[in-house]
Amino acid sequence: MLKWIVEELKLPAPPFWLIGGLLILMCLPLVPLALAMRARVSTSPKTRPHYILDMDKQTKFKAQSDSPIFADGRAMRPPVPGTIAWGKKVDAPNADLLATDDHYFRGYRLENNATTGGMDTVYYTGFPGRIKVDQALMLRGQQRFNIYCAPCHGLGGQGDGAIYQRSLDIQAGWVQPSNLTDDERRFRPEGHLFNTITNGIRNMAGYGAQVPVQDRWAIVAYLRALQMSQDAPDTPDAPAELAGGVE
Ligand code: HEC
Repeated sequence: MLKWIVEELKLPAPPFWLIGGLLILMCLPLVPLALAMRARVSTSPKTRPHYILDMDKQTKFKAQSDSPIFADGRAMRPPVPGTIAWGKKVDAPNADLLATDDHYFRGYRLENNATTGGMDTVYYTGFPGRIKVDQALMLRGQQRFNIYCAPCHGLGGQGDGAIYQRSLDIQAGWVQPSNLTDDERRFRPEGHLFNTITNGIRNMAGYGAQVPVQDRWAIVAYLRALQMSQDAPDTPDAPAELAGGVE
């Protein structure tokens, strides 16, 4: 073609460097594409180029990392002694600003174990001082239990709730919710039951985010009533209002 044009029009042949140069220029636009293709299939330990930095990259210590600045070598600093949670009223009556009441807020305390050098979890038995176990608490606990626990554990706490029934129907093979009235659960300290509600246990998730502390204790109280109901004497000693509440 080029030869024909040159011969027909009697044009001088273009110099070799011009043809070569044009060819190279034509290939140049493909280079970014080739680079992009390569970047898509190869991996690199380096982070991607980040042209607009905003505040993404800055010199800082990450959580849990160590730091040469402090004597203990930790980058994360404990709160200054006497720190009060923001927004709490210091002079409120019975204020437990930092939730230091382990029994009420956690159901367990940690104790140093001199033999192992580690910490032991000790669950509290009984109800914390600020919980008054009365009929109002029981009724509240019953209502909360029926909402939050009965779908799995059943209204009577036997581990036969609607969700478990359904899992049998569809053969889902889910772990059966524990029978809350068997001997193992009956001998769990109150604090253990409370912690199970707060943080869950084994396959059961925690309900601490949905159920406030006071209500968790109400559920524990009601659980105790459910357990007692399983071998209650012929003459019921529960208040009439509770009777018939459980199927
Ligand atoms: C989504 C279903 C589900 C809900 C809702 C649920 N549980 Fe459970 N729970 C389970 C399962 C499953 C287990 C057994 C876990 C395992 O053994 O791995 C269990 C175990 C337990 C245990 C036995 C713990 C032990 O000491 O061995 C207690 C106590 C308990 N649940 C209390 C409650 C209470 C109280 C509530 C309501 C606040 C509740 N659960 C809500 C599924 C549930």
